[in-house]
Amino acid sequence: MPQQPLSEGYQVFISRPVASVGGEITVPGDKSISHRALLLSSIADGTSIIRGFLHSEDCLATLAALQAMSVDVVVEGDDLKILGVGIEGLHSPPGPLNLGNSGTATRLLAGVLAAQPFDSVLTGDASLRKRPMERVAVPLRLMGAVIETRGGGGAPLKIKGGRPLTGIDYTLPIASAQLKSAILLAALWAEGQTTVRSPNPSRDHTERMLGVMGVKIEQSSSHTVSLTGGGRLQAQELEIPGDFSSAAFFLVAGLLGAPDGLLIRNVGVNPTRTGLLKILQEMGGQIELRNQRECGGEPIADLFVTQSELRGVEVRTDLVSLSIDEFPVLFIAAACARGQTVVTGAEELRHKESDRLGVMATGLRILGVSVTEYSDGLSIEGGSISGGRIDSQGDHRIAMAFTIASLAAKGAIEILRTEEVATSFPDFVSVATRSGLAIEVARSRGKDDLSDE
Ligand code: S3P
Repeated sequence: MPQQPLSEGYQVFISRPVASVGGEITVPGDKSISHRALLLSSIADGTSIIRGFLHSEDCLATLAALQAMSVDVVVEGDDLKILGVGIEGLHSPPGPLNLGNSGTATRLLAGVLAAQPFDSVLTGDASLRKRPMERVAVPLRLMGAVIETRGGGGAPLKIKGGRPLTGIDYTLPIASAQLKSAILLAALWAEGQTTVRSPNPSRDHTERMLGVMGVKIEQSSSHTVSLTGGGRLQAQELEIPGDFSSAAFFLVAGLLGAPDGLLIRNVGVNPTRTGLLKILQEMGGQIELRNQRECGGEPIADLFVTQSELRGVEVRTDLVSLSIDEFPVLFIAAACARGQTVVTGAEELRHKESDRLGVMATGLRILGVSVTEYSDGLSIEGGSISGGRIDSQGDHRIAMAFTIASLAAKGAIEILRTEEVATSFPDFVSVATRSGLAIEVARSRGKDDLSDE
């Protein structure tokens, strides 16, 4: 089978072809909402309860950062009790805050820390340190913050405390919820009004949660949001819905191999997150939203997906920011569809946990798929998929996406460097196994040696 070389000591997934998937599963709590629940509860007045919190490495990095700034947290099973310190209650951390792999934690915390009376340093792992941070420093500096980024604009970020902030009217260069949220969080402490304008809509969990906690948010369109500083947040009981981005792997699994259907319960279906539903439905995918309801300002549904004949599509560029984390698994669906799928306007994918256009193109080619790479997208010829060995480059979503390809592949798919799956979906293998997938977890001990764990 086609192979990429093995390096020593990495965790490997071996995903073997299975006849079908089905039954009922749930996916863990939403990562974006879990980060926000921690941040906003910490600066609220009173004690918040967070139910269904995602205990993944990324969210635990945010939690540790807040604890380092004197926020008390009580873990009660899957739930968290956060003793809010109020808008003026964070304390100087004893050292640099290490946010691991998490871009969301780093950028959102940059917004909060720009407004604090103390200095701070934000850093992370090798992948995080390569990601662009000037994009968040630029608007925060316009508000009055003093922030230094490393060399070409990456982490560590050094933030000087004690600078008074003033509201700004800022147009984002890209539709990024992380940037929008960082500015809105800093705006809580800023003098006057802050307005953030976006070229396209992006996920709006920060706005929704601020609203639930009593901060007045003005949303003049899906592209423009304003907030006036000086308010306070009220503690809440927050229920985190299942993560649509985690459910996405099983939506595609169901489309490829669930003749009797696969039910994914309790998934967040905020319209700023569900671009993938529209794309898959346009490809011919049968996905039903059942039992639609609302919880804590967020829409939720059970998703029922049935095996479908998929056809290639040209993905609308206005859906890109609404499905930004789902492209790895969408590219797998495209490789299994009849005809060509074209994605453009997605240059941002090169700045995620890995260069997701480059790494996906390389992996798909190893599986025999014909792929053309553009600076801002991919064109994929759907057809047959072979087995093979792929390097996920330590990107959690790429690792999980390639396990799903085994439903259509002629042989096993080995995926290297899968540890980072724990950043967003620590139970991925057991949920996948429950759905009917056959994923073995192994470790490379030397060149071409895969030993079972
Ligand atoms: C996130 C926003 C997205 C997404 C990331 C989580 C968030 O990034 O890719 O995984 O929680 O705000 P951008 O908004 O920067 O594209």
